[in-house]
Amino acid sequence: MYPLEDGSFAPRNQWYVAAWSQEIKRSPLERVILDNPVVLYRTTDGKVAALAAFCPHRGFPLAKGDVIADDIECPYHGLRFGPDGACTLIPSQDVIPAACRLRAYPVAERWQWVWIWVGDPDLADEALIPDHFEARLTDPAYRNAGGNYFEVPGRYVLLHDNLLDLNHVPYLHKATFGGDGGGAVQIPEVVAKETTISCTFTQPAIDCPPFLSALFGYSGPVSRTYVSYFYAPCLHVIVDSISRLDPATGVTEQLGDLLHIHAVTPATATTAHYFQGEGQNFSHTEPCLSEAFRSSEMVRAALEEDVSATRFIEQSIAMNRGRLSEILLKADKAAVLGRRMLQALIDAEAPATR
Ligand code: FES
Ligand SMILES: [Fe+2]
Repeated sequence: MYPLEDGSFAPRNQWYVAAWSQEIKRSPLERVILDNPVVLYRTTDGKVAALAAFCPHRGFPLAKGDVIADDIECPYHGLRFGPDGACTLIPSQDVIPAACRLRAYPVAERWQWVWIWVGDPDLADEALIPDHFEARLTDPAYRNAGGNYFEVPGRYVLLHDNLLDLNHVPYLHKATFGGDGGGAVQIPEVVAKETTISCTFTQPAIDCPPFLSALFGYSGPVSRTYVSYFYAPCLHVIVDSISRLDPATGVTEQLGDLLHIHAVTPATATTAHYFQGEGQNFSHTEPCLSEAFRSSEMVRAALEEDVSATRFIEQSIAMNRGRLSEILLKADKAAVLGRRMLQALIDAEAPATR
């Protein structure tokens, strides 16, 4: 499906972010991951259980039920299932049929995320989760705050397109932080490897945008570099480095890095989950600036602009019967490489898992 090849949706034998850790509690949460309705909850020892979301008896949504000790109870006729998906109780009979069980999905918690694998469970190697230290998420030099979540009414690749081309910032976000961003960013330097892309955008000399002045306690000329890392098929980390600039000499002195953290998970063919957080490597003081920034109205409003853009493009696709004809620009290089990377991951999977 657009913008991938017909019949291609998303690579399934991959780890995806299913939820923020803080979202998963004892009370169950239902979320659709790559067309798999999943119910998530915590067991008594704090581990995350991820099970098929509908009761195998009559299809009742289990997220409407209660968690009792480590089991989830269907509220229709009281069947219970353990975190491994096995049925542990049928109140109306003693014998539990072998087929009466739920699919259990492999999960792993890293940083503040619950990662899930909805592909072939035999291939669910946790070593395939992007290295969180390398991505700076667990690097102690950074103080990171997660927690933003959006249900996006658009296909997941549109969000990757958005995140891989920051030239949209001064325009789409002109009412929020884009208007402070010092004008168009330059065509990025793009380096693609097998499953990662890095893009470097630079703004060599701009006035310090007001929201950064507030963070750094500095106003004046700055040099700004964004290095955007895409770990296909889910994670983007943008390292936004700001340096004080002496325009007379060109000498720079680093003020600090902001991290803009994004994870994109396909839900259905035309919807996605979007997880977003912020980080910093300066002033590790209370209150945490990253947390204040992440939860600020400005950041939430900017993210809504990306979500709206995705919704509008999805509507355009529907009006154009599932495809768009596109004029690709030089600035689309990283987005096109990202699409190719996703297609290659899909193509590498056995047809039965696609
Ligand atoms: S539908 Fe769940 S117990 Fe009957
Ligand atoms: Fe954006």
